[in-house]
Amino acid sequence: MKTLNVCMLGTGFMGRAHSNAFNQVGHFFDLPCKPVLKVCCGRDKEKLEKFQKTWGYEETETDWRKAIERDDVDLIDVASPNFLHKEQVIAAAKAGKMIICEKPLAMNYAEAVEMAEAVEKAGVASMVSFCYRRNPSISLFKQLVDEGRVGRAFHYRAVYNQDYTISQKVPVGGASLWRLDANVAGSGVTGDLLAHSIDCAEWINGPIKKVCAHTEIFVKERVNAVTGEKTPITIDDACMFLAIFENGSMGTFESSRYARGRKNFNTMEINGENGACYFNLEEPEYLQFFRYADPETGRKVEDHLTGWQKILVTNSEHPYMNRYWVPGTVIGYEHYFINQTADFLLQACGETPVAPVPTIRDAVRTQKVCDAVLQSAREERWIEI
Ligand SMILES: NC(=O)c1ccc[n+]([C@@H]2O[C@H](COP(=O)([O-])OP(=O)(O)OC[C@H]3O[C@@H](n4cnc5c(N)ncnc54)[C@H](O)[C@@H]3O)[C@@H](O)[C@H]2O)c1
Repeated sequence: MKTLNVCMLGTGFMGRAHSNAFNQVGHFFDLPCKPVLKVCCGRDKEKLEKFQKTWGYEETETDWRKAIERDDVDLIDVASPNFLHKEQVIAAAKAGKMIICEKPLAMNYAEAVEMAEAVEKAGVASMVSFCYRRNPSISLFKQLVDEGRVGRAFHYRAVYNQDYTISQKVPVGGASLWRLDANVAGSGVTGDLLAHSIDCAEWINGPIKKVCAHTEIFVKERVNAVTGEKTPITIDDACMFLAIFENGSMGTFESSRYARGRKNFNTMEINGENGACYFNLEEPEYLQFFRYADPETGRKVEDHLTGWQKILVTNSEHPYMNRYWVPGTVIGYEHYFINQTADFLLQACGETPVAPVPTIRDAVRTQKVCDAVLQSAREERWIEI
């Protein structure tokens, strides 16, 4: 079988999730090629060697430019902080490599456009890691909407909340709190969390036409973990926005890292003429579905049978589930990455994925909506996308 040599840029949370996916994907999917963990790239030599041993990389490299230019590498996986995405993706495209890039694609829309142009000029396969699309319940959510079971959409509602930055003592910068530094992250919850919600919303309910947003910075100054100095915080700690979709439905989006009690509370709901769907990542193996009318006949479900159905999404007929265990047994967070890796490898090798992957060009669109949300908050007005 043809091998595909992988170079991983970044050895943190996503470096681990993606490496695990490359190691696991061939156990669950019939692939036209076998990913080989060739080289991992990070800044700290000691951490890098531990990462290499844990995940089984053949070699390490501390200079990402050298890693990208290696002749024996086919695929560059960008799992680094956001400010590095543009330079790394463009370098990978110029070197003719396939690219997987973490979200948010870029620091802003202008960067995203440049990246997409470089990838298209090079003609290389790409995917942005909007991994929640690959949760079987969210995939089923989309399937039910596409089958007309929700019908004309009226409302779309998304929430993505966490609570890990409430304490004023949480510093900015350094190993994992780069997310609070605008120079490294680009934006706060808008790029970090709402990019996922926007991606799912547009995937499921079509393009957003205009947005009206408000953002908040609750703690305006934090100690910098590297310099020890007090540093002003400029990223959005919380963001809420209204959206109007092209299909005429109304959307509300809310995201915060100050939602006490919430760790990774990612929910979405659609309410339409024929029915409704609701997903909550705290119960990832379930999709809730309210059936009001049959999409083909328009006939209403008998009154005594209407009500929310809580579907355990583990049947072999459910998206991705025929790859795993028997009905009734659940899969977890790491499987969204395995599923997206499988789809990427299948699509890149000319075979049919379970669902087409979001390319760098698709993610430019998400970045455009994120930028519009931030602009709307700054200017306190509606922004057309
Ligand atoms: N798809 C998802 O659900 C998801 C989840 C988490 C993170 N992400 C994205 O993945 C990317 C990486 O995030 P992560 O959670 O793995 O981060 P992390 O902090 O856990 O790891 C970042 C890695 O980049 C390296 N790095 C290189 N230059 C750095 C710098 N100047 N500052 C800090 N680290 C530097 C670090 O050494 C580390 O190996 C980000 O773009 C993030 O938005 C996506």
